Amino acid sequence: MTNVDAPVIAACMPPRRVLLGPGPSPVDDRVLRSMSAPLVGHLDPLFIRTMDEVQTLLRYAFETNNRLTMPISGTGSAGMEATVANLLEPDEEIVICINGYFGERMFEMASRVGAKPIRVECEWGKPVDLEKTRAAWRNSRASVLFAVHAETSTGVLQPLEPLREIADERDGFLLIDAVTSLGAHSVGIDRNRIDACYSGTQKALSCPPGLSPVTFSPRAVDRIHARKTKPVSWYLDLGLITSYWSNDSSTPRAYHHTAPITMNYALHEALRIVAEEGLEARARRHERNHHALVAGLEAMGLSMIVPEGYRLWTLNTVRIPDGVDDMKVRARLLNEFDIEIGGGLGIFKGKAWRIGLMGTGSTANNVLLLLAALEKALKAEGYQPKDSGVSAAAAYYSAN
Ligand SMILES: Cc1ncc(COP(=O)(O)O)c(C=O)c1O
Repeated sequence: MTNVDAPVIAACMPPRRVLLGPGPSPVDDRVLRSMSAPLVGHLDPLFIRTMDEVQTLLRYAFETNNRLTMPISGTGSAGMEATVANLLEPDEEIVICINGYFGERMFEMASRVGAKPIRVECEWGKPVDLEKTRAAWRNSRASVLFAVHAETSTGVLQPLEPLREIADERDGFLLIDAVTSLGAHSVGIDRNRIDACYSGTQKALSCPPGLSPVTFSPRAVDRIHARKTKPVSWYLDLGLITSYWSNDSSTPRAYHHTAPITMNYALHEALRIVAEEGLEARARRHERNHHALVAGLEAMGLSMIVPEGYRLWTLNTVRIPDGVDDMKVRARLLNEFDIEIGGGLGIFKGKAWRIGLMGTGSTANNVLLLLAALEKALKAEGYQPKDSGVSAAAAYYSAN
């Protein structure tokens, strides 16, 4: 018998926070309810139908006909690692644009899988430097170009067309991180001819964290099939995973790992909500709430980090005014209003707040509530807002 006493611990009873940080985002009650459905086996006919439907719904969200579209079991970083681990063989070069924390993470992952990553160092808070990227591409033997579509650390939206043009100079593969854009900003996999892309469930799809949707173009699949070496990771080996996810009727599904059944129910429901709203309407909603928030923040005298035209609708980075204590403001928002916003990451630590308006969380109610709460928290710190943020946002809503 154990010599440790059985612990008596109260049940975990989380409050209902208003999640306006960099993720996770608020989850619709429909998604939460779907997670209390009974478990079935991971090869049960009902679950197999659910998997097929998740794939169909993901193709809609990614705007693609790619057959190889599915959720990797794991958070966004698992999808991230799956893409580099499968696309690259040891010593192969990849050009990595780094204009924030997640470009840096991809550099680290590419190094670990034994590839030869080439850094394109760009300014944080701006889109990637295209001249530097083109030069790095031309001076390398890389066949893969990587960039982050929605840099959650800075709030920058990266235009994809110019990157496709650079990769096209020698028929290169374009690998894109769409963790904070999928379900809000159009990713347009087929339109932008993106060869491989990964996302996460806990941002604009408004599903809990735990799965990472990925999609690969037919030529990326051919490249993976033509590998001379096995991917370094068994768990993330797409050849093995697709034997479970492939709905090709000629080859029966084979066990690879036990799929997180409940998370797949959740993603199924979250994606049904995306499809019901429609990608375009969803994009317009995110855009409108972002602009109302910015109108409110600027009316209060605060300034945005990212230049207009490159701002994410899902993640807003705003400078912390001089003399205002970052932690005190965030603690007040959490303790008095149950609102979570994010602190700065990397070089923006202590200098910026990250306000997420993602998926279910992107609403006028949340924008107005946050602006009112932030005004109170700023005043408590001795900062006198120039004007009323709530009035400016309300005026934006009336006019738009
Ligand atoms: C742009 C970006 N890429 C990758 C990741 C990694 O995802 P996860 O934290 O779900 O592993 C994140 C997470 O915030 C992200 O924002």
